[in-house]
Amino acid sequence: MPTLSWLTRDEDLKTAGRAPYRLLTEDPSLGYGDPDTGNMLIQGDNLEALKALLPFYAGRVKCIYIDPPYNTRSAFEHYDDNLEHSRWLAMMWPRLELLRELLSEDGSIWVSIDDNEGHYLKVIMDEVFGRANFVANVVWQKSYTANQTAKHLSDTHDHLLVYGRAADRLSMGSLSRTEDQKASFKNPDGDPRGPWKAENLSAGKFYSDGQFEIEGPNGDRFLPPTNRYWRCNRATYDRWLADGRITFGLKGTGRPMLKKYLEEMEDALTATTWWPHQEVGSNKVASTNLKALFPGMEVFGTPKPEQLLERVASLATNPGDLVLDSFLGSGTTAAVAQKMGRRYIGIEVGDHAVTHCAPRLQKVIDGEQGGISKSVGWTGGGGFRFYRLGEAVFGDDGALTSGIAFSTLAAHVWFAEIGHAPDRAPDGPLLGVREGRAVALLYNGVLGDKRPAGGNVLTRSTLAIIREALNRAAPGFDGRLTVYGERSALSPATLAAERIDFKQTPYDVKARR
Ligand SMILES: C[S@@+](CC[C@H](N)C(=O)[O-])C[C@H]1O[C@@H](n2cnc3c(N)ncnc32)[C@H](O)[C@@H]1O
Repeated sequence: MPTLSWLTRDEDLKTAGRAPYRLLTEDPSLGYGDPDTGNMLIQGDNLEALKALLPFYAGRVKCIYIDPPYNTRSAFEHYDDNLEHSRWLAMMWPRLELLRELLSEDGSIWVSIDDNEGHYLKVIMDEVFGRANFVANVVWQKSYTANQTAKHLSDTHDHLLVYGRAADRLSMGSLSRTEDQKASFKNPDGDPRGPWKAENLSAGKFYSDGQFEIEGPNGDRFLPPTNRYWRCNRATYDRWLADGRITFGLKGTGRPMLKKYLEEMEDALTATTWWPHQEVGSNKVASTNLKALFPGMEVFGTPKPEQLLERVASLATNPGDLVLDSFLGSGTTAAVAQKMGRRYIGIEVGDHAVTHCAPRLQKVIDGEQGGISKSVGWTGGGGFRFYRLGEAVFGDDGALTSGIAFSTLAAHVWFAEIGHAPDRAPDGPLLGVREGRAVALLYNGVLGDKRPAGGNVLTRSTLAIIREALNRAAPGFDGRLTVYGERSALSPATLAAERIDFKQTPYDVKARR
């Protein structure tokens, strides 16, 4: 497959693997509302923040929306948007790789971009996500007036590149009919079935029974136009006519048409790739909304409208699904996710994580009424926790940092062994069972026994506890069991007979690359 080449490509392809796994440390003074929603706001470089999330969320995110700096050669109030072209590609590549790992099998990623880097982005996304997983290039009408100072053509649209983690597993949602679309159904003849639209009774597809003559109310006779066929046979036509479903126009002198009633049509429309500003807002709508939220403040310069994110979330997620935005900006994605009953993780490197994102989400939780609030019936609720990047889980020499909590090490061990985030936080030494393999961790006195030769050592009694949990989780399990512990007191023969692979903490705990 053809690929894009740039100066530092070979090195950049290793960046994600080399990034350290860091801990996330909570700042409770910046969190707000219900702390147990699982919603996270993280301040930090998204390369390391995404890596920190991997052991806990790999394969768990249903929808990723990102709006990275477009490389427009501008210096915005809150961030610089001027990287040398190769540096921009070097910045995006590893982040896209990590984002892909976080997506669920049926998940999708939506990336806002413009013509500065959009076509290069398409090529690298084809490589990272697989060309077969490309879904669409949505065109969003970001403004509706021409910029008279544009050098050549005034740019009024952005792209949204959409990929599925596995496009064949992706089920795209649909859209409800808008009020404008509903208003195009009328009821000029007072039909008791309500508003209707006249549809062509003929079609171009050959239909041998669709070539009969129809007589109108004034005696006019109609055949289907040349190379077209009625969409029904004579019997169906007679039934429709008797049922009042055929119209010859209000005066009864036109060609026969079929009445399509609004109340009988499905309210689930397939979305198109053209998103006009009347449906999903414009840049101006986004800025106006933000100014109303933070009166008198220096507002964030490049927000997206909530309506745009509402469209993405309605197509890509269901209530309760997890949404991730790793270039959070002013917090639009998180605000929309909160209002639409989705869970969210937002990452932002700038100070505006504190000055804009957290206060915006606080207002949302208090029932703020801008953006999409009225259309989704938002009245407030929910909450989030605020995090920053903490120390690395593994040192430069690959050694496990001392004092790591059981739950953190458990996630890393499971992720290193299985390559997915755990289904649930473990409530004992058994971390889980997957695809015929079980993994257990004896660490930090998980069994309540912190003596040197106590609960962190694999003995007959600690093994019995693991086996008991395994029996409950997977009755009849006869696969291999990997146990991490400080030491094994079992003989090699017993380990072999029990089909156990013993690994020693901390030395055998390796970061997954
Ligand atoms: C175009 S803005 C996003 C705007 C956002 N969609 C909104 O509606 O407000 C891009 C954001 O990405 C942030 N950013 C850039 N590089 C980053 C990085 N390495 N890690 C985290 N955030 C980053 C910038 O600070 C900026 O706030």
